Amino acid sequence: GGQKPLAGRKAIVTSGPTHEPIDPVRYIANRSSGKQGHAIAAALAKLGAKVTLVSGPVTIPDPAGVRIVHVERAEEMRDAVLAALPADVAVMVAAVADWRVASAAGSKIKKKPGEAPPPLQLAENPDILKTIGHHPSRPKLVIGFAAETENVAENGRAKLERKGADYILANDVSPATGIMGGDRNRVKLIGRNGVEDWPDMDKEDVAAKLAARIADALSH
Ligand code: C5P
Repeated sequence: GGQKPLAGRKAIVTSGPTHEPIDPVRYIANRSSGKQGHAIAAALAKLGAKVTLVSGPVTIPDPAGVRIVHVERAEEMRDAVLAALPADVAVMVAAVADWRVASAAGSKIKKKPGEAPPPLQLAENPDILKTIGHHPSRPKLVIGFAAETENVAENGRAKLERKGADYILANDVSPATGIMGGDRNRVKLIGRNGVEDWPDMDKEDVAAKLAARIADALSH
């Protein structure tokens, strides 16, 4: 009786964007509300998992019942994720910036009248999902997200292989879908053995369905 399906399991979830500083007052970032990642962390906790949620800067509240680590940059997010290992499952939902400014200025870059804008030299950020997918302490289940606008299933499948993930939840983020920043999501669950098309659902329901699938996969 009564035992929650993920009791005794550890989960790591990333959520939100990362902010990559240009100088102390400016940054570059991806668009991400954190709604889907936070909902997944909450859903896993509800099933009894011990959840570490590593979140970039978001405006939504911390979910109840999870340990939350607030970070700003991709490198900080990577470090926080690695520090949370070992875990049974990792769900990387964050919209990590692909690049950071190679050498962020320590003080505010002054705008000088008549001078050309400063050039921004970019450096590649660590791929956190790929790092976890190939890590010696790889969680038994590694799940990533893919925001695509075309060939969603094919691109998701290629991403799964490249990143060493077990599943990719792929969504069509074409502007017409309203998914970005919205409360609903329409996803495909791409695994090694096929693709499931999930109906249009609230992000909370996507989270609950995914958490149930995770519980099922970890029980085998
Ligand atoms: O390659 P792409 O950014 O489309 O892959 C998306 C997936 O990879 C998401 O699960 C995202 O959280 C993860 N990712 C990551 N670190 C990066 C880039 C993406 O963990 N630097």
